[in-house]
Amino acid sequence: MRVLIVGGGGREHTLAWKLAQSSRLEKLYCAPGNPGISKVADCVDIAADDIKKLKNFALQEKIDLSVVGPEAPLVLGLTDAFKESGLRVFGPDKKGAMLEGSKVWAKEKMKEWGIPSAGFAVFDNFDRARSHLSHFYGGPVVIKADGLAAGKGVTVASGPAEAEQALYDIMIERKFGDAGSRVVIENCLSGEEVSVLAVTDGKELVFLPSSQDHKAIGEGDRGPNTGGMGAYSPAPIYTDDLAKKTEEQVFRPLLKGFNQMGIDFRGVIYAGLMVAKDGFNVLEFNVRFGDPEAQALIPRMKSDLLPLLEAAAEGNLGGLQAEWKNDAAVCVVMASRGYPGNYDKGIPIEGLDRLEQSGDRQVAVFHAGTAFKDDRLVTSGGRVLGVTAWDSDLPGALKRVYNACDQIKFEGCYYRRDIAHRAL
Ligand code: AMP
Ligand code: GLY
Repeated sequence: MRVLIVGGGGREHTLAWKLAQSSRLEKLYCAPGNPGISKVADCVDIAADDIKKLKNFALQEKIDLSVVGPEAPLVLGLTDAFKESGLRVFGPDKKGAMLEGSKVWAKEKMKEWGIPSAGFAVFDNFDRARSHLSHFYGGPVVIKADGLAAGKGVTVASGPAEAEQALYDIMIERKFGDAGSRVVIENCLSGEEVSVLAVTDGKELVFLPSSQDHKAIGEGDRGPNTGGMGAYSPAPIYTDDLAKKTEEQVFRPLLKGFNQMGIDFRGVIYAGLMVAKDGFNVLEFNVRFGDPEAQALIPRMKSDLLPLLEAAAEGNLGGLQAEWKNDAAVCVVMASRGYPGNYDKGIPIEGLDRLEQSGDRQVAVFHAGTAFKDDRLVTSGGRVLGVTAWDSDLPGALKRVYNACDQIKFEGCYYRRDIAHRAL
């Protein structure tokens, strides 16, 4: 099979790494890819949101299956455009992608379909939004820009001053552009987060094991939110009982609602849950694999990923299941100093060759923000590498992963030392 992966981050490297191991694969392309991906796929210099060029490429190269990594092309309608040309895509169409593309839409549908989620109100006017903050009596409150904001559109404010600043940044300063024309003001929930992902053909669900992301930049979950500083799988908090409830109360009603609306969702549904002693709520939905959750999940997959993605894209999972290793995996994100704020680029990365030669086959380094400059590997983004290791248990995986991190060097390199602390 001829496959095109759309995207060029750590998640896409992980997908490419796994798909490259498939006996069904004939040819693997990735657009735009990155230096790590170029070791397992042909990288094509087309941006992930240049739908027209991507479609022409897929037609020209007779691509059998396109797998979309990030949310933006899905929200922009990549799947709709590809389908019109008879191309098969793993990833929902524009209507389905609304689940991630509009927080307002997602919250309204959750309410309508009875999916547990925090109480909320929607505003398109700054003054009215600000007045609404008095309902929280000086306590914490969550402000969310409606549209896509690269994972940075949510502020968990400790009180009204911070909340008002977030409203101002989103609605007046338009920090996230049109994504901030509306906001959701939401009750602040507490508990522990878990990411639950399922591959679906719109009818059946194939659940992936649980995982947990670490959104904050700092150890002890302090500091501003990032795209994700590390992940591990499985997350012990996600018990069998919780899995059953999540399927019944979240995923089934969602699919039913989609069916009623004529949304034929073929791809990944990702539910971010907040789990407390007295129950759980959905914090957000995504319509794609998590990043860095994918880095911790995919290496645990025993079976071939390609038939699963193909069958989902085909709209016919037909009872297909995935097999998972009974082990633990951890991904630690190595980031550039300054991230999620400003950071330097073009800094040489050392130690990867040595790490590869050391031959630990339970370690994989997934590239996110890397580039070649004069034949040298350099940093090109905030999140640079997703160093991943797996072992029979979590302490073993942690030992391997931090051992690997210690061997990789670049000026200003930063990573959290406490990934998976909650599971220990
Ligand atoms: P989202 O983009 O909706 O996932 O939000 C990003 C992060 O903000 C989540 O992973 C949570 O850590 C946090 N968050 C979102 N909604 C809430 C909420 N209602 N209460 C507390 N934290 C939240
Ligand atoms: N790791 C969070 C996300 O992929 O949205």
